[in-house]
Amino acid sequence: MKKILTAGIVMLATAGTAYAACDSGERVVRFSHVTANSGHPKGEAAALLAERVNAEMDGRLCMEVFPNSQLYNDNKVLEALVLGDVELAAPSLSKFEQFTLSFRVFDLPFMFSDVAAVDRFQASETGQAMLDSMQDSGLQGLAFWHNGMKQMSANKPLVSPTDAEGLTFRIQTSDVIEAYINQIGGNPQKMAFSEVYGALQTGVVDAQENTWSNIYTKKFFEVQDGVTETNHGIIDYLVVTSTEFVDSLDAADRDQLMGIIKDVSTERNAMAEGINQDNRAKILAEGGAIRELSDDDRAAWVGAMAPVWDQFADGIGQDIIDAAVASN
Ligand code: LMR
Repeated sequence: MKKILTAGIVMLATAGTAYAACDSGERVVRFSHVTANSGHPKGEAAALLAERVNAEMDGRLCMEVFPNSQLYNDNKVLEALVLGDVELAAPSLSKFEQFTLSFRVFDLPFMFSDVAAVDRFQASETGQAMLDSMQDSGLQGLAFWHNGMKQMSANKPLVSPTDAEGLTFRIQTSDVIEAYINQIGGNPQKMAFSEVYGALQTGVVDAQENTWSNIYTKKFFEVQDGVTETNHGIIDYLVVTSTEFVDSLDAADRDQLMGIIKDVSTERNAMAEGINQDNRAKILAEGGAIRELSDDDRAAWVGAMAPVWDQFADGIGQDIIDAAVASN
């Protein structure tokens, strides 16, 4: 990577792109994602990854990060990876349904008590085996990245699950999420992340569920009545590439890249919870309402969504569910 930008170097003019100017001999690694690039667990991790690759693999690999859905939304990016139009992505674990049913374990409501439990599960033998579970479809998982626990927001106060009756919820492309929103009497609508703010603002949808970091950095709280601290699920990510890209790297470059991804994952995963709490505080500081649940209210949400576990157990596999439960 050239340290000084000179005339003749192709620069990406898209606002906010964490671009690198790549030398002609360098292999370009495009990393496409959908969230903000700063003040966000995924954005910050992707930026550090690019910084380290560009410093330590200078002359061989050159990483360019495209945040904020500038290149692809999460449903298109997996196709783009397999076609070789992009080399790296980190979609949420809810977006892999068309490739594997096992990832549905991450969407089961109230499965994980906190992000530390998610971390233990992902580090377990069962979790690590999931990285290789989509090789037949040409996808290779490289690491799990944390975002955090999901909260619910709506254009009216949500305290009891019955408050959700009749509300249209934007959801990720996950049949498990669709099922638990149906379970509380809501109308789930699958939609790309880049469209959520507009859909909330115009009333196309009434409600959504997401992490503090996504709710703050995408300003969802500004077009909602408030956010209810449900902690009913998680948003985490799979850093993913194509098997073809992995195979195309020479062994030394592959090992070095994997080593950097491992270091960055450990370092940034340890910061994810703090980043979410900062974003929670910013929502309050900017006038957003946050509602906490009493133990009884929380029990009502848990009970209302519980039937979904049985509905998806066969597809996920009881061994995977048991390992996830044990991580709590
Ligand atoms: C969403 O679609 O709500 C999230 O998966 C976005 C993200 O990448 O955190």
